[in-house]
Amino acid sequence: MVEPLLRLDNISHRFGAIEALRDVSFEIGRGEVVALLGDNGAGKSTLVKIISGGLAPTSGRLIYEGQDRLFASPAEAKAAGIETVYQDLSLCANVDVVANFFMGREIVRKYLGIPILQEREMEAVVASAMASAGTRIPSLRINVEHLSGGQRQAIELNRFVHWGGKLVLLDEPFAALGVEQTRRGLDMVKRIAAQGIGVIIITHIMAQAFQVADRIIILRRGEVAGNLPRAATSPEEAERLIIGEPIASQSPTTRPNGPQPS
Ligand SMILES: Nc1ncnc2c1ncn2[C@@H]1O[C@H](COP(=O)(O)OP(=O)(O)OP(=O)(O)O)[C@@H](O)[C@H]1O
Ligand SMILES: [Mg+2]
Repeated sequence: MVEPLLRLDNISHRFGAIEALRDVSFEIGRGEVVALLGDNGAGKSTLVKIISGGLAPTSGRLIYEGQDRLFASPAEAKAAGIETVYQDLSLCANVDVVANFFMGREIVRKYLGIPILQEREMEAVVASAMASAGTRIPSLRINVEHLSGGQRQAIELNRFVHWGGKLVLLDEPFAALGVEQTRRGLDMVKRIAAQGIGVIIITHIMAQAFQVADRIIILRRGEVAGNLPRAATSPEEAERLIIGEPIASQSPTTRPNGPQPS
């Protein structure tokens, strides 16, 4: 059997009296896109935080690349190749695209003992990374604050791929984007998955989930209410699982507002 990239084993989380996650278990493979769906408060963001080292689960295990791991911080998860990409939060607005791309990894060479930043070399690396991903940015030398949300997201994803990322978490990545930028974002998700990267994408827009995901996982009140290959389900079925309505063909007499079995 092929080892999954990440396996969640009975992850539970409590915020005081609130049970945000209960015994959540599923796997994600290399190159797989999983859409994580669920109503407001279902536990999606909490789960993403646990995977990416932002929050420790109350109980449960994460098995990443075959090893039992819980990341103590987002930096630790990032070093292992797991990253949450936000639309713009993790780029520095007041420096340019090249500086953002190389943040903390700058190419420096010493001349006569003096360290010199290799600006041209770094720009060439960024230009080639952007070109191979099909991302068009007007200039790599303008500050990120002047770029659109979709452009910033593309830069982040390209940076993630370039530095050897393995699993990317996208929590409602297209919520603030227009039609064209969303289409590009979805294309980009497919492209990075084709390179063997695992993607977990949270979205409230069913059509987006069905457009990119290989598998649909539904959380309902902190529990996995469905884990289905996209080809084996439908937006209608996913919708029903999200709200907890029984599937008509299975239990026609137990609709929430219908007659209750005695
Ligand atoms: N820091 C916190 N302290 C207390 N309760 C929290 C905290 N974060 C989340 N919760 C609660 O945990 C539950 C799950 O929240 P979570 O943010 O994971 O939901 P979500 O599925 O991402 O929802 P949405 O679609 O609205 O973003 C909710 O009941 C929420 O109120
Ligand atoms: Mg959320």
